[in-house]
Amino acid sequence: MSRTGCEGLIAVFLAEAGDQPSPGEVLCGKLGLSPSELLAGIEGLRQRGFAIDSAPGGYRMTGAPDRPTPEALESLLTTRDLGRALLCLEETTSTSEVAFLMASENAAPHGQLVLAEAQTKGRGRLGRSWISPAGVNLYGSLVLRPALEPRRAPELPLVAGVALAEALADFGAPARIKWPNDVELRGRKVAGILSEMSAVPERLLFVVLGLGINVNADPLPSEIAGIATSLKRELGRPVSRVRLLCAVLARLEDWLDRHEDEGFAPVRARWVELSSTLGSPVDVEIEGRVLSGEALDIDESGALLVRTPGGVERVLVGDVRSARASGGPR
Ligand code: BTN
Repeated sequence: MSRTGCEGLIAVFLAEAGDQPSPGEVLCGKLGLSPSELLAGIEGLRQRGFAIDSAPGGYRMTGAPDRPTPEALESLLTTRDLGRALLCLEETTSTSEVAFLMASENAAPHGQLVLAEAQTKGRGRLGRSWISPAGVNLYGSLVLRPALEPRRAPELPLVAGVALAEALADFGAPARIKWPNDVELRGRKVAGILSEMSAVPERLLFVVLGLGINVNADPLPSEIAGIATSLKRELGRPVSRVRLLCAVLARLEDWLDRHEDEGFAPVRARWVELSSTLGSPVDVEIEGRVLSGEALDIDESGALLVRTPGGVERVLVGDVRSARASGGPR
């Protein structure tokens, strides 16, 4: 039997035994393992984060790793649609790439979630990459099939930004949003949203919302250590990825429902409350040029309005820097 097969059998057996210790001979007999296979399996599970007691009466599982799997999410997920169809991958190029492909092939219903423990080509906004170390953070992409005109699709990442910021606040982290949807803690990026859509003239086919949250990365990868943070670093304790994911999906479904029923106005109002951008001097990088001014507001479609010496400019796509922070690490 393969090593992972052995570990899987032992993990399920011990989980089902609960507090009852299972003697080694019983485990070997019931699972058809040799004593050395059992020992290697127990050791492998411990290395993967399972806490297994080996008291004289037998083995007992006292803790399982915080890993978002269908089994772990099952009892905590409260959503109607989001995450109900779930694909969990150990490693992939990009969950958004996988989700987009599935949606294009009509193999993903509304709410389909693709999760990965690690990404080798995680994608960020504006063609950047999203550094995705294994096993510590959340990388997930949702397929949405909203009844929305294509021109209103840019509202969705702002909906997601509000939901993400509120979910982080539920965990004691007072997150703010930097336009359009960078979620920050104390001015450092903790989560990002990538929205990609497929449409035909006049009809939105689907949107893939990719969410990346730095949960327990500590330390952060050196490439982003100067500009990013993680929940664990900010709160001084690890956060359950499973619980956080369920909270994000619940908040997001509520806000998507509200967006569908009431339009963009309530989302915009909440976004303004959570914004770290408005009212500040900003430098906005737009395709190589920099626009400097004061971030005034977002309009009814989510575009950023910047007061410049030449008048108010409307920014649809760009990267905001706080002008106060210019010269600092980015
Ligand atoms: C940003 O630049 O702020 C957006 C980052 C989005 C990252 C997430 S991680 C899960 C999903 N898959 C990707 O390749 N990107 C998104």
